[in-house]
Amino acid sequence: METLPDDAVLDELLAVAVAVARACGRLITDERPRHLGVDHTKTSSTDVVTVMDARSEALARAELARRRPGDGIVGEEGTDAPSDSGIWWLVDPIDGTANYLYDMGYYAVSVAAVVGDPHVARAWYPVAGAVYEPVGDTMYSARRGGGSVVETAGDRTPLAVGTRTDLARCLVGTGFGYAAASRAKQGRVVAEVLPRVRDIRRMGVAALDICHVARGRLDCYYEAGVNAWDIAAAWVVLEEAGGVLRGVGGRRPAPSLTFGGQGPALDALEDLVVGLARRFEPGAAEPDLR
Ligand code: IPD
Repeated sequence: METLPDDAVLDELLAVAVAVARACGRLITDERPRHLGVDHTKTSSTDVVTVMDARSEALARAELARRRPGDGIVGEEGTDAPSDSGIWWLVDPIDGTANYLYDMGYYAVSVAAVVGDPHVARAWYPVAGAVYEPVGDTMYSARRGGGSVVETAGDRTPLAVGTRTDLARCLVGTGFGYAAASRAKQGRVVAEVLPRVRDIRRMGVAALDICHVARGRLDCYYEAGVNAWDIAAAWVVLEEAGGVLRGVGGRRPAPSLTFGGQGPALDALEDLVVGLARRFEPGAAEPDLR
């Protein structure tokens, strides 16, 4: 188990996460080119990167290096700077790039400070983070032991997860990977989840899905294929709001499957999704929906 930084360091990490997420959020909104195109693709032809993803990550990298020299930085668009301090930053410079590409005003910047090795699934743990939604000027932030807040245009409100216990009455957020074969499996699973819950939301921004669970606007969340930078900041926000982000069987979240929520509704969602996922690999020790 990793050691937590002390309170003064946690406060500093939180302040840095908030400042950097805000700066990147302003950049991608204020300087979004009128005719934005795809710069290149990554894991599949639908996994796009725009010039603004790269600019946002470059700004985050420069700001983090200036404010916290010695910390490591790992970013979605390729940044990988080593850590001397034991603290690493995980940066998603635009979470919801497809929404951003299509000029839908629903996307975010996610910046988290973590301890442990963020290159290895389950070997790291977030200690402070900020998820900034620039359209609407909404900042979700938290650090371990400090509670989590949402701040919109100067109005700060503590976050608390919802209390619904019956999965059948839960509004459930989810998302899909970019690879066609993964999507085919994930589509078959969601088709069986849908009749067993209030409804499904697929809004395209994993970090915000998890923050909405923290805010009680979604009851639960599940997804396969999420990366560390998608979930790191929102993970602290959710847990400081009284919820849980976890992988299968109470282990830490992992790309195989990640669940967020609280109480019996979360347990029921995990049981349901894991049972459905096992149909694809009946003998696997841990189901993997990617
Ligand atoms: C994606 C979004 C989406 C989720 C995908 C992520 P990106 O992040 O968070 O909601 O379903 O798994 O990859 O690619 O826009 O940074």
